[in-house]
Amino acid sequence: MMYAFRFVRPLLDLLDPEVAHGLTLGALARGLGPRGVSPDDPILGIRLWGRDFPNPIGLAAGFDKNASAVGPLFGLGFGLVEVGTITPRPQAGNPRPRVFRLPEDHAVINRLGFAGEGVEAAGRRLAQWRAQGGGGILGVNLGKNRDSDEAAADYAEGTRALAVHADYLVINVSSPNTPGLRALQGRGELEGLVLAVRAALAEARPGDPPPILVKVAPDLEAGDLADIAAVALEQGIDGLIATNTTIGRPPGLKGRHRGETGGLSGRPLFTPSTRVLAELRRLTAGRVPLVGVGGVASGAEAYAKIRAGASLVQLYTGLIYQGPALVPRIKAELAALLRRDGFNSVGDAVGADNTEID
Ligand SMILES: Cc1cc2nc3c(=O)[nH]c(=O)nc-3n(C[C@H](O)[C@H](O)[C@H](O)COP(=O)(O)O)c2cc1C
Repeated sequence: MMYAFRFVRPLLDLLDPEVAHGLTLGALARGLGPRGVSPDDPILGIRLWGRDFPNPIGLAAGFDKNASAVGPLFGLGFGLVEVGTITPRPQAGNPRPRVFRLPEDHAVINRLGFAGEGVEAAGRRLAQWRAQGGGGILGVNLGKNRDSDEAAADYAEGTRALAVHADYLVINVSSPNTPGLRALQGRGELEGLVLAVRAALAEARPGDPPPILVKVAPDLEAGDLADIAAVALEQGIDGLIATNTTIGRPPGLKGRHRGETGGLSGRPLFTPSTRVLAELRRLTAGRVPLVGVGGVASGAEAYAKIRAGASLVQLYTGLIYQGPALVPRIKAELAALLRRDGFNSVGDAVGADNTEID
């Protein structure tokens, strides 16, 4: 598959991005991906929330919304895979086309709007994967249905249905394509959601609750970020994921689709999302583990996220342009950079650029 991508890529480029994505996912699910990844370099290992991640490079949410290819995705070499966003009930999402490539910018704009099959279908697949001995650290990213006006009830429902399969749960309040969703990042709303999810967890996984993470937008004002950090510290949120896609359009975009509505991901998101990450590190004084995501397509970029404060790094858009060989390449480059700078582990490099802490 890694090899084949080079030949298939020009064909995939001709297709509607969503159709190409469906074909890729289908091929993976049918076992056409690589098998038997080599064990990770021990320098890449990191322990967080009582779990041992073999490497810190993860697949970001949105690639496998319905948990249809989890095992094969771990086969690409990811240290963690996050499925979703999953809503309680199935929903169609926005009309197509709703995913656009900006190849000149190494970027994508999407306005899928949480298209997905709902918690029941995802739960069935995850149960099957676990029953077949599926290992690997699995994140489950939860959302709300577009027509639901009880957000907390939706996140609680997702938790009750899926927490049993999850190594960590994500409250996604940062996708730009569900009206009103990002307002849930406000202090009171976020506190309510965390309490609702925690109450649902007490039912679903008593005694053994997985960590709760919140995924934030890159477009927040300084005051909003301070509120999120305060809620994280006060409510004991276990981690923050920074960031989702941006509604901003940084100057200099060249792709002809740059005017499309939706969230922008990929290279132009690297700097804004890394800024938010560093700011969250500062605001939480390094006490809340952070996941860095946005525009990572090389070991150097993964390393920059780690030095800015990320304990784990995720990617999506880089995979669209570079294919599955990107994952082993990033891991090898990251290991070399850690050694070059005299670090013995990923953990030692976390927040190395943030001199105000430690
Ligand atoms: C097509 C597409 C769909 C996405 N869907 C989701 C989603 O359902 N939930 C979510 O939390 N993030 C979603 N994301 C955002 C990614 O998880 C990630 O935060 C963002 O793309 C930045 O990373 P990247 O630059 O490496 O792509 C999606 C991104 C893309 C490109």
